[in-house]
Amino acid sequence: MIFSRLSPLLRIPALADLTRDTLLRMDAETAHGATIAALRMGLAPERSQPDAPELRTTICGLDLSNPVGMAAGFDKNAEVARPLALMGFGMVEIGTVTPRPQSGNPKPRLFRIPEAGGVINRMGFNNEGHDAAFARLKDQRVPAALGVNIGANKDSEDFVADYVLGVQRFADLADYLTVNVSSPNTPGLRNLQADEALRRLLGEVLAARAKARTHVPVFLKIAPDLDEASLDAIATVVLATDLDGLIVSNTTVTRDAVAGLENATETGGLSGKPLFTLATERLAQMRQRVGALPLIGVGGIHSPQTALAKIEAGANAIQLYSALVFGGLDMLDRLKQGLVTAIRAQGKRNLSDLVGTKTADWAAGRGEI
Ligand code: FNR
Repeated sequence: MIFSRLSPLLRIPALADLTRDTLLRMDAETAHGATIAALRMGLAPERSQPDAPELRTTICGLDLSNPVGMAAGFDKNAEVARPLALMGFGMVEIGTVTPRPQSGNPKPRLFRIPEAGGVINRMGFNNEGHDAAFARLKDQRVPAALGVNIGANKDSEDFVADYVLGVQRFADLADYLTVNVSSPNTPGLRNLQADEALRRLLGEVLAARAKARTHVPVFLKIAPDLDEASLDAIATVVLATDLDGLIVSNTTVTRDAVAGLENATETGGLSGKPLFTLATERLAQMRQRVGALPLIGVGGIHSPQTALAKIEAGANAIQLYSALVFGGLDMLDRLKQGLVTAIRAQGKRNLSDLVGTKTADWAAGRGEI
């Protein structure tokens, strides 16, 4: 195919920059659509070499060739899980998917904050629904850990029932499921993080999981906008269940890190560089509360140093999205190479030797990159 013959060209830095500059000149959601279309056509560069053994890791029984995942929200409809895996992500999380299709909020609803490397989105779970994602995944061989991120329809009368439907639909297809209760763009959704509501939600989700043919690991994805008491409450509820892990974190509704910048006052969730410190501190604070429970660290990773810091703060694996908007998809190779260099420089054998080595610093707000 002409596209697969073209894809090595994207490895030439000048051409990759050209593509990136063109995308950055487009409206943000149009650029995203163009990226998904390019991936569907096979235009993405494939992994040039196998992952270094130092990056191999296991989380909740899932063997990852490297710990770097594509975060939810990039491939909402499971259109490009396979190309993303072939590019070299160790895990690919599709969604959020809701039981029924929904169009999301009116456009524009996705904004860049170029000076800060930030993104604000108020997409509102635009997605084609369970059936469409299921149909695409059923026929896709995805050579990475495949996560399905499940949510609730905005107009649903029973949010919990929507999550249960997600488990029933995807438990036998996904390598892991993520229960997303942390999007700021569906009114009322974040309330599911509160004590009693969370207890009921996890009870029903895990009961549905127990009835599935395969035992699929289930993660809960939380917001960074939680105080210490809320973190305590979530940890207490989670540790009383057999939930497999937490993803920390989703986007923030705070704006301190971008005050005064272009687009900073748009409503929605802020991600990318300006989220890094907040999300990493919450991750470390959660690590202190949950012992060895698997944690996936997300939020603001944009360099090998920030990827490493996430792991040192307590993440067993990491995910990113926004940095790819500014840095391009070849950011992945740079992150992985940087992690290998750091592991070797510290005389360690594997990335897992670095997990949580700086949790106390990050939890106390003294983390440094
Ligand atoms: C997201 N994110 C997200 N998360 C989720 O669980 N379900 C979703 O549907 C989406 N949708 C979404 C859309 C867009 C445009 C963005 C930028 C982000 C959140 C994402 O998975 C991640 O948690 C945050 O973006 C923080 O990571 P980064 O982007 O700072 O690396």
